[in-house]
Amino acid sequence: MSLPTQNTHSDHSNLMAARELTLIVAATNKMGIGLAGTLPWIGLKKELSYFARVTKRAGPGTINAVVMGRKTWESIPPRFRPLKDRLNVVISSGSTDAEFTISNMETALDFLGSKLVQRKAFVIGGGQMYKASLEHKEAKRILLTRVLGDFECDTFFPIELNEDGTADGWLRKSKQELDEWVGETVPEGIQEENETKYVFEMWERTDSAEAI
Ligand SMILES: NC(=O)c1ccc[n+]([C@@H]2O[C@H](COP(=O)([O-])OP(=O)(O)OC[C@H]3O[C@@H](n4cnc5c(N)ncnc54)[C@H](OP(=O)(O)O)[C@@H]3O)[C@@H](O)[C@H]2O)c1
Repeated sequence: MSLPTQNTHSDHSNLMAARELTLIVAATNKMGIGLAGTLPWIGLKKELSYFARVTKRAGPGTINAVVMGRKTWESIPPRFRPLKDRLNVVISSGSTDAEFTISNMETALDFLGSKLVQRKAFVIGGGQMYKASLEHKEAKRILLTRVLGDFECDTFFPIELNEDGTADGWLRKSKQELDEWVGETVPEGIQEENETKYVFEMWERTDSAEAI
């Protein structure tokens, strides 16, 4: 299904306020996230299952949304898409084979706000999509998997979230706050799979009081 811009963007008064957005990303310390249309690393199965658990976990009778750029949609092997048990929303100026294709971020925010059964909205990539969503104050939180290896990348996350916990306009939250928000006890400290080390983190905008 493709939603023309004018259908959902024209009358804000009839729509719920857009939900807050949580970006979920795995990035190196240099904020590298992709290479040649795919992930720069292989074999992080537990990391992928964390992504699946967190994005799927919703209250009874509700479902979470995953919002992605067209290239990320196409990078998901056809047998795995749409990502199951989640409302898949693809952003593209053209058409795709996804159930919901929306032409821009503003319309997507209206659309997400209008879905009464939808609980959390995750932006799941890629680089262009993260950049477009961070321009909106609704993008309030980042679930970062900090990949500690030095992988070759050609696609990058648009802001720097430093290992020492500093970042412009963003603050790293505690492990307890991460656990509470995702709804599970997240593995603590350095994880390792296939000789790749990584850490689960959560960041929030420091001006989050202004975000919806
Ligand atoms: N490490 C991670 O956590 C992670 C997560 C996801 C993806 N990735 C990687 O990231 C890479 C893909 O990222 P990418 O930046 O190349 O592509 P992308 O953001 O996935 O998709 C870009 C496409 O999305 C559409 N789009 C994005 N922003 C838009 C906007 N504001 N308005 C309208 N359309 C918009 C456009 O589609 P049209 O051209 O059709 O108009 C654009 O060409 C891959 O390597 C992937 O594996 C990594």
